[in-house]
Amino acid sequence: MSTPANKTTRIEPAKGRLGVLTVGLGAVASTLIAGVELAKKGIALPIGSLTQLDTIRLGKRTENRSPMIKDFVPLARLEDIVWGAWDPFPDDAYVAAQRAGVLEGPKHVEAIADILRDVRPMKAAFERNYVKNIDADNVMGKISKRKMLETIREDIHRFKDEKKCERLVMIWCASTEIYLEIGPQHQDIESFEKAIDANDPMIAPSMLYAYAAILEGVPFANGAPNLCVDTPVLRQLATERGVAISGKDFKTGQTLIKTVLAPMLKARMLGLAGWYSTNILGNRDGEVLDDPENFKTKEESKLGVLEHILQPEKHPELYGNVFHKVRINYYPPRGDNKEGWDNIDIFGWLGYPMQIKVDFLCRDSILAAPLALDLVLFSDLAQRAKLGGIQEWLSFYYKSPQVAPGLYPEHDLFIQLSKLKNTLRWMMGEDQITHLGREYYDEV
Ligand SMILES: NC(=O)c1ccc[n+]([C@@H]2O[C@H](COP(=O)([O-])OP(=O)(O)OC[C@H]3O[C@@H](n4cnc5c(N)ncnc54)[C@H](O)[C@@H]3O)[C@@H](O)[C@H]2O)c1
Repeated sequence: MSTPANKTTRIEPAKGRLGVLTVGLGAVASTLIAGVELAKKGIALPIGSLTQLDTIRLGKRTENRSPMIKDFVPLARLEDIVWGAWDPFPDDAYVAAQRAGVLEGPKHVEAIADILRDVRPMKAAFERNYVKNIDADNVMGKISKRKMLETIREDIHRFKDEKKCERLVMIWCASTEIYLEIGPQHQDIESFEKAIDANDPMIAPSMLYAYAAILEGVPFANGAPNLCVDTPVLRQLATERGVAISGKDFKTGQTLIKTVLAPMLKARMLGLAGWYSTNILGNRDGEVLDDPENFKTKEESKLGVLEHILQPEKHPELYGNVFHKVRINYYPPRGDNKEGWDNIDIFGWLGYPMQIKVDFLCRDSILAAPLALDLVLFSDLAQRAKLGGIQEWLSFYYKSPQVAPGLYPEHDLFIQLSKLKNTLRWMMGEDQITHLGREYYDEV
């Protein structure tokens, strides 16, 4: 039975300017900004972005209705986007893009140099003990966490006024912080507020940005694996205030491949003995992740995927004894051009072993930028559609999707894609597509 379409949803139109606030102005953020500005000028294509390039099938296969997603749902136009950022490095987006070394200068940086120079980072709410490998001074200084929170809120107001924005979205494109677990400080507003006043180390800067965003009614997307908005207190607050939140950790290179290959093994009931994933990466992100405490945050996010897809408790003979290892090695000569190797030991009929080898020579920020763009546009859409709280339909973009307490996350890329497109159909009052397809055979 198909889910009834939601005929009653009213989505506010995307009028006026959309201000995009990136926390962090490093490789991903500068590649995002440059790419959108190049696309606006028709100099390059926003490849990898569903909001810009994909279509969505509506109704039966015989109806031939497949509009572009951007023509089907009322998304903000790229022309209406304006940029703001925070970063402990004072570099504007032009310098940040050059420093990141992702884009070819003459072709993709110089052409939009003026716009990039205009994106100058605000002073960051930054504490070195959360990201030890970064030492920079465009920071709010050694002030209390309460003062940091207030300053972020003031920055949001000032930016909105100065840039004359109708709406804002905040997206975390900053470094991965050290590993933190949910504690009593994150359970409810009272404990959270008390912990802020006590400068409790369990309150990371990312939580202050997310808290400020929610208090200001600004949707928040979390591109790193930090706990951040994935805490009971912020989930609850976002739901109560009707603010769209999502996370965690952009699903770009190796995990993207993993969430395509693992469902294939599971679908064919092929066994898995081990999956060894290793990477070399030479950008600043790689340098930050070289610190074991920061790597642990990333490792948790990368490891969870297989368990949820393969369900070893249901298939102990196939997946009960999987050796899964993920390594990231900082190797400066490669810069942002990561190389990820996977060695996958599988077994088939009667237990005979086989191997799959993957060598993905990818470009980290080239894969991440379109995800960041889609997250910005879909978060803004969700906000205008009055869908507050966790946006599980955006799981497609994340390594470690945020879901309601008690639910396991859906990691299979194509289930995530169906969920995303069905949510768009549901928002617009179109029928769900279940792929049952009986109607083509039952009708005479
Ligand atoms: N590129 C990818 O494929 C990919 C995939 C998944 C997740 N991510 C995550 O996205 C984030 C950004 O990646 P990147 O390659 O752009 O890294 P990057 O190091 O180039 O940029 C991160 C920026 O964040 C800044 N920063 C650190 N703490 C901050 C704070 N408290 N406030 C404001 N700014 C702060 C740093 O100074 C740096 O300029 C990282 O956490 C990374 O793990 C990236």
